Amino acid sequence: MVKICCIGAGYVGGPTMAVIALKCPELEVVVVDICASRIDAWNRDKLPIYEPGLDDVVKACRGRNLFFSTDIEKHVADAEILFLSVNTPTKTSGLGAGKAADLTFWEKAARMIADVSNSDKIVVEKSTVPVKTAEAIEKILNHNNNGVKYQVLSNPEFLSEGTAIEDLLYPERVLIGGRETPEGQKAVQTLKDIYARWVPDDLIITTNLWSAELSKLASNAFQAQRVSSINAMSALCEATGASVSEVAYAIGMDSRIGPKFLNSSVGFGGSCFQKDILNLVYICECNGLPEVANYWKQVIKINDYQKRRFLNRVISSMFNTVSGKKIAILGFAFKKDTADTRESASIFVSQGLLREKANISIYDPKVTEDQIQYDLATNKLDWDNQVPQQPMSPTARNQVTVMWDPYEATKGAHGVCILTEWDEFKDLDYKKIYDGMQKPAFMFDGRNMVDPVKLREIGFIVYSIGRPL
Ligand code: NAD
Ligand code: UGA
Repeated sequence: MVKICCIGAGYVGGPTMAVIALKCPELEVVVVDICASRIDAWNRDKLPIYEPGLDDVVKACRGRNLFFSTDIEKHVADAEILFLSVNTPTKTSGLGAGKAADLTFWEKAARMIADVSNSDKIVVEKSTVPVKTAEAIEKILNHNNNGVKYQVLSNPEFLSEGTAIEDLLYPERVLIGGRETPEGQKAVQTLKDIYARWVPDDLIITTNLWSAELSKLASNAFQAQRVSSINAMSALCEATGASVSEVAYAIGMDSRIGPKFLNSSVGFGGSCFQKDILNLVYICECNGLPEVANYWKQVIKINDYQKRRFLNRVISSMFNTVSGKKIAILGFAFKKDTADTRESASIFVSQGLLREKANISIYDPKVTEDQIQYDLATNKLDWDNQVPQQPMSPTARNQVTVMWDPYEATKGAHGVCILTEWDEFKDLDYKKIYDGMQKPAFMFDGRNMVDPVKLREIGFIVYSIGRPL
């Protein structure tokens, strides 16, 4: 049995390896992590991440050819193919702080591989890394000259949270980059053979290493750029009376533009868009390309602007003060169908409201109270100014309540902010919500989920993104 080991049992490592194990029963797949509680959860009924369809895939192969373990060194030493799926966050201090990728976890994993390996291995970059990282990993892997040969491949992951299993089972493409040597191409073919078990041949693209690494950063940058472009238009729509959804529909009908990723919102979140664009910006700056760096930086600036614009709209609409008022937040995850809150626009809006002394009542169908309190209390680095953003003061904790029912969360509220596009928010009984609220009752729809005309008929004062007021 060929043995695969994946280092990092997170949002990418767990689902990706589960699908490989499902589709390739002849392979033994072990996912390892330094975080014992995460591994423990992968071995239980309640998995550490929520992802539609994931439970079934894991249950089908866990204990058969899929294993989760903290015995990292043993499984790394035994494996023929190693996937590196550790986190690569933005650096928060030192050279490149606020932009460059922090490769600490990644380098530690690579050094450990070099230290424990006594047989040849294919090392696959699954994490999103700066272009040319494979060159660095080769240097680290070969540092102890023990005769072990490594082939480093870049195989970036394109799954989206909330649809990870669907994306893995039916990918639009799989990208594999390798060295253009006979050994490099042999390794590419080995990995290609694994994906070929369920992915059509013409969807498996092979390139050189640097193209594969850069394509991942470019792909995320292009996607985020679409969201920022439509969000920039939303501000102009509000100023002119155009409707952003009508504009998005009209431009998306042009096949050269296409309809996807044109939903205007309170701003994009998630662990990757911002970090990967900042990483791209840093690489451009380091390569003496300030114009290119500034072009991509603008995508993040517009996203910050959109979040700020939404927050300011809430405060200014409510007579310029939310002090002592109750604001209900519907949705805390960065998008629907996930419990992940990393870089969620909800954190920004909630922290802003707390600073204005509002009382906030949060409902999200999947995010835990502990996670919400942690996010609100966490001090983040402002990427642009490199100073920590103001965290929630210890007393602000009393201003936050977390509810497990949207009607309870909105009861007695002066305003409601819809910040995640959970499907259930479309079908809430808004008359009931209105009846339970203080008057005038404000609705700030950060996801264009509700019909403003119907809500105005009920009596709400409605603000939707990119629609006439
Ligand atoms: P994550 O934080 O959910 O998981 C990373 C895991 O790696 C953590 O559990 C951590 O404990 C573990 N880890 C760190 N150092 C380790 C070490 N030395 N040994 C063993 N385990 C170690 O991160 P993620 O969301 O899965 O992202 C992983 C990578 O994949 C990132 O580079 C990210 O940019 C990329 N990516 C993420 C997504 C996504 O949707 N989340 C999609 C595509 C690509
Ligand atoms: C994104 C990419 O879609 C994946 O291809 C990529 O693999 C992944 O990043 C990654 O590298 O981590 P993800 O962040 O999980 O996936 O989710 P998206 O669906 O891309 O949404 C990102 C953010 O943009 C969310 O906050 C979402 O609400 C927002 N968004 C998306 C909009 O505001 N409008 C849109 O039209 C689309």
